[in-house]
Amino acid sequence: MREAILSVSGLTKRFGGVHALEKVDFDLHPGEVLALAGDNGAGKSTLIKTISGVHQPNEGEIRFRGRPVSFADPRAAREAGIETIYQDLALADNLDVGANVFLGREPMRRILGFLPALDRPRMASEAAKLIATLDIVLPRLDLPVRSLSGGQRQAVAIGRAVFWNAAVLIMDEPTAALGVPEQRKLVALIHSLRAADKAVIFISHNLADIFSVADRIMVLRRGRKAGERVAGETSGDEIVKLMVGSA
Ligand SMILES: Nc1ncnc2c1ncn2[C@@H]1O[C@H](COP(=O)(O)OP(=O)(O)O)[C@@H](O)[C@H]1O
Ligand SMILES: [Mg+2]
Repeated sequence: MREAILSVSGLTKRFGGVHALEKVDFDLHPGEVLALAGDNGAGKSTLIKTISGVHQPNEGEIRFRGRPVSFADPRAAREAGIETIYQDLALADNLDVGANVFLGREPMRRILGFLPALDRPRMASEAAKLIATLDIVLPRLDLPVRSLSGGQRQAVAIGRAVFWNAAVLIMDEPTAALGVPEQRKLVALIHSLRAADKAVIFISHNLADIFSVADRIMVLRRGRKAGERVAGETSGDEIVKLMVGSA
C-alpha cells in the first residue's frame, strides 16, 4: 500500500460537555475516495472542520504528506493542499468564473510596463482551459457565478481546487442541494479526481451516493468511529447498522 497522504490518529474535539469527536483514527491515500457516513450529529462535519483548520483539536494528531500539521484556519489548510468544499460554497457570487478560480491569488500584470493591474485575460483563459479539462459545461464564463446552477457552482469550486493542485479534497454533503442530473455529474467529477490521483473525503447521508463513489466507507456514531469497510465488501444494510449501533 502506498503511503497515506493524510493520517489522523486519536482525534478528539469537545464543545463544552459535548464530545463531538472521540479518538478518531483513519488514513487516506492518493487516488482514494473515503466516504464518511453517520446520522445527524455523529461528528462528520466536526471531523472535517478539525482537519481543515476551522476547529483546533483537543487531542490527537493530523499528519499530512508524512508530517504533523496544525492549521490555524482553512486558508492555511488550503495553501498546504487540503481544500474543503462546503454546501454553501465559498464562491464570490458577484464575480465571474475566472475571478473565482483566482480568488485571493490573483495574477498581476504591468500596464504600460509599470502600473500593476489584475491580469484578467490570463484569469479568463486559464479558467476556460480548466473548465474544458474537467469536462464541465457552463453556458458562459464571463457572467457572475450567481447565475450558475448549484451543480455548476460546485464544479467551479472543485475546478479551483484542482487548478491550485489540492492533494486532498473534502466535500461536505455536496449532493444535498443538487438535482439528479447534477448529482450524476458530480459523481463523474469525483471519479476523474480519483483518476488524477487526488484523495477525496466525501460526506453524505445518501447511501446510493456513497456507494457510487466510495472506495472505503467510514461510519461515525456519536463522535466515535463505529467501523470502516471496503465499499465492495459491504452493503447498505451493514452501513446503516453501523450508523444506528445495531451491528
Ligand atoms: N460549534 C459547535 N459548538 C457546539 N457544539 C457543536 C458545534 N459543532 C458541532 N457541535 C455538536 O457536535 C456534535 C457533532 O456535530 P456535527 O459534527 O455537526 O455532526 P454531523 O455533521 O455528523 O451532523 C453535535 O452534537 C453538535 O451539536
Ligand atoms: Mg454535518
